[in-house]
Amino acid sequence: MNKAEKNIVWHSMNITRDDREKSLKQTGLLLWFTGLSGSGKSTIGSAVEQRLYDLGKATYLLDGDNVRHGLNKDLSFSEEDRKENIRRIGEVANLFVDSGLIIIGSFISPYIEGRDQIRKLLGNRFIEIYVDCSLETCEQRDPKGLYSKARNGEIKQFTGIDSEYEVPVNPEIVVKSDEMTVEECVDRIIKYIDGKVF
Ligand code: ADX
Repeated sequence: MNKAEKNIVWHSMNITRDDREKSLKQTGLLLWFTGLSGSGKSTIGSAVEQRLYDLGKATYLLDGDNVRHGLNKDLSFSEEDRKENIRRIGEVANLFVDSGLIIIGSFISPYIEGRDQIRKLLGNRFIEIYVDCSLETCEQRDPKGLYSKARNGEIKQFTGIDSEYEVPVNPEIVVKSDEMTVEECVDRIIKYIDGKVF
């Protein structure tokens, strides 16, 4: 227990997650996309969100680059800060899921431990989706020009170059974005969650 926790008491609410889910007619869920920069997490995540939206579902997308402009703008890409980045996002995502929404989270989230902490927080409402794409392909795509900067030393601690990425051991879903089209990836994900949220 830290200093702050000593003097605060959990306040229970009148309206519960169950109530909110009933009125939204869906189950709150966190679809967590993990993978290298340029692997397609945000592209596939956005396409999944579009599909869910078209089905009338209430969704929200949390994206690495965007969250680092606000909530986490004080954090770097050191191992310690990446862990804090993912810890905070996990807490935020947990609140969103408690609100009954289907959350699409798109973060490199390179460490197994960090992803497992979120799994612990959310239980079976956490769906880990590994966007599997070779470093070579990500580097060829280089949509933001960051790999070439990392290669010539302008960016340090870049994931896949001089910072590690721990491949998920047992993710719920794997999509191979260098072999499958975006539509095929979306189909696989929607098929997996069909029956869980609908
Ligand atoms: S994480 O490792 O902490 O989970 P996060 O998903 O928030 O990363 O942010 C990744 C995005 O930040 C990348 O898509 C890329 O655009 C940008 N970025 C800037 N510097 C780095 C870096 N050193 N390593 C990885 N991504 C970086």
